[in-house]
Amino acid sequence: MNIVDDVIRAKLHSHVLLIRQVSEYIINSGGKRLRPALVILSAGAFGYKGEFHYNLAAVVEFIHTATLLHDDVVDESELRRNRETANALFGNAASVLVGDFLYSRAFQMMVEVDNMRVMQVLADATNTIAEGEVLQLLNCRDPQVTEENYLQVIRYKTAKLFEAASRLGAILGGATPEEENAMSIYGMHLGTAFQLIDDMLDYTGNNQDIGKNLGDDLAEGKPTLPLIYAMRVGTPEQAGVIRRAIENGGEEGFQPVLDVIQKTAALDYARKCAEAEIVTATAAIASLPDSENKKCLMQLADFAITRNH
Ligand code: IPE
Ligand code: IPE
Ligand code: MG
Ligand code: MG
Repeated sequence: MNIVDDVIRAKLHSHVLLIRQVSEYIINSGGKRLRPALVILSAGAFGYKGEFHYNLAAVVEFIHTATLLHDDVVDESELRRNRETANALFGNAASVLVGDFLYSRAFQMMVEVDNMRVMQVLADATNTIAEGEVLQLLNCRDPQVTEENYLQVIRYKTAKLFEAASRLGAILGGATPEEENAMSIYGMHLGTAFQLIDDMLDYTGNNQDIGKNLGDDLAEGKPTLPLIYAMRVGTPEQAGVIRRAIENGGEEGFQPVLDVIQKTAALDYARKCAEAEIVTATAAIASLPDSENKKCLMQLADFAITRNH
């Protein structure tokens, strides 16, 4: 991971000062580097001995970082990684444009690997993430959004990149088509669980731990699973509180919504869904040969649902 960080730093270079300022600002704020870890671990699980996994790990982190720069503009978020967001500090225009720089830098870097399959996986993933974010935009302030609609959004906007990262290591390591498929199923379910927990933490986490402001989802009128479930099982009155909050972006405050979420045990339901995703994720790779890398992939799956940050 230290080598990945060296690659990330080296590849942020641009002669345009503002690009360096914004990109170094967000990269240096930290982040869990989960997606690059997936590339490294999955390449290791298949005995990959080359150097391209460092490059591809940096590529997926760049794509992730670009989505965060854009996402914080769209979500009007002001805190990320316990610091002001880039949009709060440098403005929306700089965030969007430096996001574009990072996307395109990622594509320059993946060309260096000179492998058409790798490019196909990353091009598809990037395109799907964009679809997910636009689908989510269409769902905002719409209380009719179903659990299925919601799951589609999170599979596209988040799980797809986890899937790609897991698959890329397998491709580099010369995995069989069955093994590559197993890794991609692992990544997809892991990523789904990861976003389910992220959406729970937006109601129950703590600002310091998550490094973001609680309630950002409600402020955007995002129909996430805790709200969808609370509306489904709550009394007509409880459902009304949630419906109005989605429609008006939580104008009546966070607390009444949180009360209904708690009374309907909606977070327990969301957690159970995340746990089920992790069971499927780990089952997919259970038959791979045992190795330290595989053990870490299993631990990472566990982290996705036990984390508070
Ligand atoms: C944030 O992802 C965006 C989501 C998909 C929820 P992470 O929680 O992996 O963000 P960092 O990189 O660790 O800050
Ligand atoms: C994840 O969704 C965004 C992307 C994958 C682009 P969120 O909007 O929930 O992410 P956070 O909470 O801002 O990190
Ligand atoms: Mg957001
Ligand atoms: Mg979130």
